[in-house]
Amino acid sequence: MGNAGDIPGVVLCVVGARPNYMKMAPLLRAFRARPDLPRSILVHTGQHYDTMMNDRLFEDLGLPRPEINLEVGSATHAVQTAEVIRRFEPVLDDYLPSCVVVVGDVNSTLACSLVAAKKGVPVVHVEAGLRSFDRAMPEEINRLLTDQLADLLYTTERSAQANLAREGIGAERIQFVGNVMIDSLLSHREHAVPAAETLRRAGAPADFIGPQGRFGVVTLHRPSNVDQADALAQSLEILRAVALRLPLVCALHPRTMANVEAFGLANKLDSERLLVLPPQGYLKMLGLMSAATLVLTDSGGMQEETTALAVPCLTMRDNTERPITVEQGTNTLVGRDRERILKLVDEILATGGKRGRAPELWDGHAAERIATHLSSWLAARPVSVRG
Ligand code: UD1
Repeated sequence: MGNAGDIPGVVLCVVGARPNYMKMAPLLRAFRARPDLPRSILVHTGQHYDTMMNDRLFEDLGLPRPEINLEVGSATHAVQTAEVIRRFEPVLDDYLPSCVVVVGDVNSTLACSLVAAKKGVPVVHVEAGLRSFDRAMPEEINRLLTDQLADLLYTTERSAQANLAREGIGAERIQFVGNVMIDSLLSHREHAVPAAETLRRAGAPADFIGPQGRFGVVTLHRPSNVDQADALAQSLEILRAVALRLPLVCALHPRTMANVEAFGLANKLDSERLLVLPPQGYLKMLGLMSAATLVLTDSGGMQEETTALAVPCLTMRDNTERPITVEQGTNTLVGRDRERILKLVDEILATGGKRGRAPELWDGHAAERIATHLSSWLAARPVSVRG
């Protein structure tokens, strides 16, 4: 099976959805650079499959084509999770891995962790311990359960350790290593597509961003903001109001666009100051965020990316599982509080807003630290893979 070093088996690295790719890319590179680690194999569950949600990001991040694709596609949470579970089990039987590495908090993360844990294959969770304390978020359920199943938990910020300790997870299973998503950001920053080029190619009028070159970047896809007609209408009204102060580039998830159509809200996006685009590639998004005056989002990852880029971020949620971005970074939680959002936008336009600082160990080397630690952890384990 092409094993390297003395550790038997392979390392199965799982991705499923967009936010997984920028976390796995640096890990795969760091694993493959270490001859003492077994061969790493990339498994894609197929949770995301659109060109713009998937292929484009793989290209931008230099991720190799997955060796295995489970092609589960979209479905209800139960069906999607169940399909990943059903299709991942035979992969473990075929490859007898020494561990399964999962990242983040999507349905695929939990599904693959569950299969591996039941087979006695060690589960390694990267970005463990984050908690929003809001179980209405599907990701919170995925985080809680994945961390219970994981044998080795790598964390991005110190608050995660306390969360895990409260849930009875022993300190010997937890390693604070920093943020692999920021590894990707720092290594790709110089290759980002300039915002002006993205806007031009998207057909934005030459005067879209005005003489001062200011614009905001928007993403919106959380069920709490886009799955109910009234919440989505409220979110779009906020965008319209902000756009009166600052032109907005909105890169919208397919579920958001589908709901805009389904709820008959397309007219709310009809404004010269709102540029509505499909999901963007990683390098374009990085260029847009870097040049933005502010970011308005409900994404998990963009709260961290804007902190690393020192760009003010208004997060349209009432809670965050990434508190360090609020405490030390540029993030502010604003929910759908229109008055508060407009006040903060005015403040940012006047003063530049929160500048923040880079959190501890968000230094571009988290994946290397994980590879080093994982190598000695695996080497110290007795060999046992159960069928
Ligand atoms: C998933 C993650 C979420 C993450 C988001 C980023 C879970 C629970 N949620 O949410 O944490 O922030 O990805 O994008 O895993 N769709 C497409 N094309 C695709 C994928 C999805 O059109 O390639 C549409 C489908 O209509 C699908 C819907 O989006 O039903 C939702 O997709 P799904 O994978 O269930 O969750 P996301 O909302 O993408």
